[in-house]
Amino acid sequence: MGTMELWSMNVEKVRPHTIPNSQSEFIGRASIMGESSGTGFVAGLEDVVAAETRLSGVYGEAGELIIAGFPVEELARRASFEETAYLLWHDVLPDAGQLARFREELAGQRNLSRATLDLLRAVAAEKVPVMDALRMAAGTLSPGTDEEEALALVASLPTIVAAYSRMLDGGELVDPDPELGHAANYLYMLTGEAPGAELTRALETYLSTVSDHGMNASTFVARVIVSTRSDFVSAVVGAIGALKGPLHGGAPGPALDVVFQIGDASRAEAYLREKLGRGERLMGFGHRIYRVRDPRADVLAAAAERLYTTDGDTELYELALGVEQTALRLLAEHKPGRNLQTNVEFYTALLLHGLGLPTQLFTPTFAAGRVAGWTAHCSEQRALDRLIRPQSLYVGDKDRPWVPLEER
Ligand code: COA
Repeated sequence: MGTMELWSMNVEKVRPHTIPNSQSEFIGRASIMGESSGTGFVAGLEDVVAAETRLSGVYGEAGELIIAGFPVEELARRASFEETAYLLWHDVLPDAGQLARFREELAGQRNLSRATLDLLRAVAAEKVPVMDALRMAAGTLSPGTDEEEALALVASLPTIVAAYSRMLDGGELVDPDPELGHAANYLYMLTGEAPGAELTRALETYLSTVSDHGMNASTFVARVIVSTRSDFVSAVVGAIGALKGPLHGGAPGPALDVVFQIGDASRAEAYLREKLGRGERLMGFGHRIYRVRDPRADVLAAAAERLYTTDGDTELYELALGVEQTALRLLAEHKPGRNLQTNVEFYTALLLHGLGLPTQLFTPTFAAGRVAGWTAHCSEQRALDRLIRPQSLYVGDKDRPWVPLEER
């Protein structure tokens, strides 16, 4: 059975779910808030459950992330990106034959069309930021069935990012290599050299770690778009637009900038104290939902350790660890009882830098991983086939007298 047939089987089956206790508490709280205020309005939809999903569960109080049944620590350490994408799409790990076919199908969709390349060349001439170029180029992918669009999106986002990055640098484009896996091929297209096993494993871990994360803003956008019976390409274009924002995926660079600016561990305390004294937040620390730890930070910290200690800038790595320890100590002093911990951004930045990626590719690379989750959510939403159409509360005037133009 091909991947496509399997896909449709899973799309058709909408599994009934029991809502975990923590989530039923959320639903209870949200409706209570609505009843007590008499409006049902919850700013930012905080604690509102907007979908049932088999894709991932975020348990902030416990510091846990489950992706399609696996703790993120387990999945990210072992899975290739193809295995993670297959798992999200089909709710089962592929066997050897299925994995080989899926790798082949993805590899067969990596090349960009002339229309996509022309668009990228035109925007490169204008030095358009990479996330904007990615959003526009994703929109040039040909319309097809949901399965075809999902495959094309997952396969070609890395090609778009790599091609555009090389165009900006004025370098020759590197054609995708169908013999390489998804992660290794991305690094190959960026650098022109096939990466070793360590670098490939580090990127596989990163892509799987960020592949899905509950009802985050970009995923919600994608689901809303599909709920109108629009197509997956449109949904992912919208999701890329949401991911770009600095409150979502748009600010992984500043954490690394702080490490660079500190330069020497002995300066960390004075530098960070001064920042906190000015009322600034330390980038890469704290999280809205994770209260005891961000499990993704732990996974990426372990991956960064492997990467930097085997083949990397150990000095930078030691410096980053020193900065992290100092920051945690000062944050504990600064906000006692808040338990502000290292978040995913700190180690994302360190890991992607260790892979040789420039800061401007951090968020686009995040998109290349998250697109697996976006497309899986699109297929869940398609199966549900229910228009997402919340209400708004009108708080404007009701009885304005119309004033003729000449009297205004
Ligand atoms: N540095 C300094 N102080 C911080 C902080 C940080 N990184 N994170 C939180 N705080 C402070 C807040 O200023 C707040 O102080 P106040 O009560 O005096 O206003 C207090 O700790 C409580 O914050 P909390 O409610 O936990 O934060 P939040 O849910 O509003 O914000 C973040 C969560 C992620 C936005 C916040 O931690 C932050 O800005 N972190 C830095 C940016 C970052 O790394 N973003 C990536 C997240 S994956």
